[in-house]
Amino acid sequence: MASTRDGVNWPRAQALAAAERASYIARNPESARLAGQAAQHLLFGVPMHWMNDWSTPFALTVSEASGARFRDTDGHEYIDFCLGDTGAMFGHAPQPVAQAIARQATRGYTAMLPSEDAAPVAAELARRFGLPYWQFALSASDANRFVLRWLRAATGRGKVLVFNGCYHGTVDDVFVDLVDGVPTQRDSLLGQVHKLTDHTVVVEFNDLPALEAALKQGDIACVLAEPVMTNIGMVLPQPGYWEAAQQLIKRHGSLLVIDETHTISSGPGGYAQAHGMQPDALVVGKPIGGGIPCAVYGFTEELARRVEQAKRSAPPGHSGVGTTLSANMFAMAAMRANLEQVMTEDAYRHMFALAAQLAEGLRAVIARHKLPWCVTQIGARTEFQFTPTAPQNGTQAQAILDGDLEQIIHLYLLNRGLLITPFHNMLLVCPATAESDVTRLLHAFEDCIRQLLFG
Ligand SMILES: Cc1ncc(COP(=O)(O)O)c(C=O)c1O
Repeated sequence: MASTRDGVNWPRAQALAAAERASYIARNPESARLAGQAAQHLLFGVPMHWMNDWSTPFALTVSEASGARFRDTDGHEYIDFCLGDTGAMFGHAPQPVAQAIARQATRGYTAMLPSEDAAPVAAELARRFGLPYWQFALSASDANRFVLRWLRAATGRGKVLVFNGCYHGTVDDVFVDLVDGVPTQRDSLLGQVHKLTDHTVVVEFNDLPALEAALKQGDIACVLAEPVMTNIGMVLPQPGYWEAAQQLIKRHGSLLVIDETHTISSGPGGYAQAHGMQPDALVVGKPIGGGIPCAVYGFTEELARRVEQAKRSAPPGHSGVGTTLSANMFAMAAMRANLEQVMTEDAYRHMFALAAQLAEGLRAVIARHKLPWCVTQIGARTEFQFTPTAPQNGTQAQAILDGDLEQIIHLYLLNRGLLITPFHNMLLVCPATAESDVTRLLHAFEDCIRQLLFG
């Protein structure tokens, strides 16, 4: 049976891992000192427990970040292909956003009232994403939670359908996997006392019969999906999949929510605009405010009316939607600058060209060394996967993850001033990434592959 380690000399890979860990420890004394200090008062020694899941023996401390680069506390410079796992997809501290924030810094941050930026931001979102009505949240997780709540209220249906292996942030509803074909609440989810499988239906991506069978029950409020799965490694829709899936969703009175938080890499209006999809609702978080915490969600005219009706016909009181700081003045200023001046057609053109070079370069290295791996690219997002043919669903994508092998490659690159996304093998380019940065990445990647094969 094929393995993720086919072609890799595993004893040598393990020796390389040990050498890279030793090198990291020697290179980063100040990060080590700060990690020791942090351990005294930070739970797990880091601000977020998952910051321990990188390939490094202890967390790398960042001192500053700008454009496609950041510097650590020991003074090393890195080319950043992780870009905050999309939060900084348009570069760190893009100048128009920095200026807008600086302007807003003396003009107030939050007042529970709309700022002058609110209407222009909503108009730009409507133009760009083709949906007329918008609301705001502080994170994509929150935006997804709010959309599910609105859509359950608007449809009077209780269930949500997601794809096996999906991730939409810390939205409890989506932590249901297919285990041997059986919907199963994810064991890793902490403190969840509700039986999620009562209200969450899960099917494989690219499986139209399974989708139809689920929708036929007539109790699914909405399908929440990334148009391309990105969080279990990339899984592309098969040709014609979304056209047929959208028809099924409509025919059975359900709604489609497209989460573009990662696939905004596909173009200024996301994957849905670039591929003629017509979602009922759309969510974007992470980079929408240039890395400032904020997220947006939009509705079609028809859905907006149904949502408004649901709110108007509910008794007065808390709706379960909203947080005090959502749509604050600071975030609005950042979003306006980012949308108007940073997330431009020109920026995307540059990113697409570089990502294509990166993807081609990775393919060439993989081919030269006869590794059974493949490369997938969606706009500015590129990923190499440990399989000769790209996975078609979450189960297949899960089977080809290899955390140990990933971490060896990631740490090798990091020790050479190149950061890629943890947990899988994703690389993003931003408007400030240069061709020479891509070349450097490709050389280091090939050096690493040589070590894995021949020591
Ligand atoms: C597709 C998608 N949606 C939503 C989220 C949640 O974003 P956040 O963690 O900023 O809430 C993520 C995070 O990775 C994501 O990949």
